[in-house]
Amino acid sequence: MINILMCGGVGSRLWPLSRAQLPKQFVRLFDQKSLFQETVLRNSSICSDTFIVSGQDQYFLALDQLGQINASSAYFLLEPMGRNTAPAIAMACMLLPKNETVLVSSADHVIKDSAAYQKAVLKAEALADEGALVTFGIQPSYPETGFGYIEADGNDVLSFKEKPSLAVAETFLQQGNYYWNSGMFCFQVGTFLDELKACSPELFAACQRAVQNIEHDDIHYRVAPELMQAIPDISIDYAVMEKSNKVKVVPCDIGWSDLGSFDALYDEVAERDASNNAVLNYSAHQPKLISIDSKNNLLVGHGRQVAFVDIEDLLVVDTSDALLISKKGSSQKVKQVAQQVKSLK
Ligand code: GDD
Ligand code: MG
Repeated sequence: MINILMCGGVGSRLWPLSRAQLPKQFVRLFDQKSLFQETVLRNSSICSDTFIVSGQDQYFLALDQLGQINASSAYFLLEPMGRNTAPAIAMACMLLPKNETVLVSSADHVIKDSAAYQKAVLKAEALADEGALVTFGIQPSYPETGFGYIEADGNDVLSFKEKPSLAVAETFLQQGNYYWNSGMFCFQVGTFLDELKACSPELFAACQRAVQNIEHDDIHYRVAPELMQAIPDISIDYAVMEKSNKVKVVPCDIGWSDLGSFDALYDEVAERDASNNAVLNYSAHQPKLISIDSKNNLLVGHGRQVAFVDIEDLLVVDTSDALLISKKGSSQKVKQVAQQVKSLK
């Protein structure tokens, strides 16, 4: 099985931690490793090869980080610009043999239970080899509108709805037979490409044109900018998963989080003081926090001294050139800040 590793996202809801030059998957968040490195290590015992799909600007970053964990060599599909996940996955698949099974993973997820994860992947591989497009279902805990929802009956998928409105997400949670889509997939290359062609023929043709003209050596594939530009910007969830009737699900409890926001990051930080203030460093230097009558706050920082006085439920992200302060529960709006910052250096 080959691991297609998508790492071309910007992670703008984690600004100022995540920047255009250092997107969140490459930031060293936990144990001095990045989520990208953790993902490569996690999949190295399951998959024989890694096929990294990223922006060409992130190539050296990825290469450096692979070297730091002594990862065996990887293949790279380098995009001159992002066109979302459907083209990234489609072009990688077009470069692989049709009978190969692939595990598609995101480089920015936390998965705490590796043993349960491995078991889920083995189950998914078996379903994929029977001709399914396999998703991994996570028990939802609140009506998140940034995720896809899978209506399930055992491993069968009755429907797939990407990013529903809040009202719709609430009805899904009440109904009880819905999972969050984790954003990881497992399928045979041939099954996926046939479904993509049937569900989104224009996208398929545009990706095919780009792949037919791809520039490459043994391990690097570079897409021509004008052909990449011509590919529609759409995710695999809208382009295929909502439309195909070959989708199956493996429900799993693997300690998964997509760290989409600082609220999600607060939940993942293990280090807390007695008042539930969570402290996370993103550099080699632990931030120093003095907290007076303050509780339930998040501090992401570096070596600098920070003090909290009489505050609660705040998210504070202190970097050397930008400071973010947000109320808990509002961190989805950080994306708007990132959009207004002229250059996300
Ligand atoms: N190479 C490449 N090129 N990678 C990309 C691109 C691109 O243009 N766009 C996004 N990615 C990568 C991101 O880095 C991330 O690892 C992954 O693909 C998923 O993209 P997101 O942009 O983070 O997707 P999402 O979070 O909105 O939604 C997806 O994930 C959710 C779970 O986290 C969907 O699959 C949802 O259904 C799912 O619930
Ligand atoms: Mg995401």
